[in-house]
Amino acid sequence: MTAIRRGGADDLDAVAAIQEASPGAARWRAADYLEQDFRVAIERNRIVGFLVARTLAADEREILNLAVAPDFRRRGVARALLASAFKGFRGGVFLEVRESNGVAQEFYKSLGFKELSKRPGYYDSPPETAIVMKFHSC
Ligand SMILES: CC(C)(COP(=O)(O)OP(=O)(O)OC[C@H]1O[C@@H](n2cnc3c(N)ncnc32)[C@H](O)[C@@H]1OP(=O)(O)O)[C@@H](O)C(=O)NCCC(=O)NCCS
Repeated sequence: MTAIRRGGADDLDAVAAIQEASPGAARWRAADYLEQDFRVAIERNRIVGFLVARTLAADEREILNLAVAPDFRRRGVARALLASAFKGFRGGVFLEVRESNGVAQEFYKSLGFKELSKRPGYYDSPPETAIVMKFHSC
């Protein structure tokens, strides 16, 4: 059973390790997540995933980062993180994902996200097109 709670300063080392083990995830300073809607997933007292989101407008939110520890993938952890972050929210949820990150695109599509547009050159290190995806919750 996955428990979701707000992330805090004590969680940052574990979150940075999951980020490091997840090439598809965005590479930001974990400490910056404390200023956003930052949630962690816990299984057996271990942090196994995290989600970072922010509010763009009353009816618009954005997923900034999401990753699950490799040995806990495909068990519904990311789905539980999104359900927690957007429970009761009405409006559009946006995100960018690398064009080569087929797994994340499949994950988001499984939840009803649709491809909205492409942003060539959005990423660097390595340079790559971003796929912009959107889910409308009503
Ligand atoms: C993308 C990611 C967060 C998914 O996390 P997860 O906890 O494994 O996902 P879930 O178990 O909640 O999967 C829910 C559904 O998504 C889809 N899905 C997830 N992983 C998939 C895969 N490898 N291949 C195809 N579909 C997949 C499936 O429909 C799955 O439902 P099912 O297992 O009942 O078939 C995880 O693979 C990850 O951390 N990847 C590296 C970081 C990353 O790319 N982040 C995205 C940044 S935008």
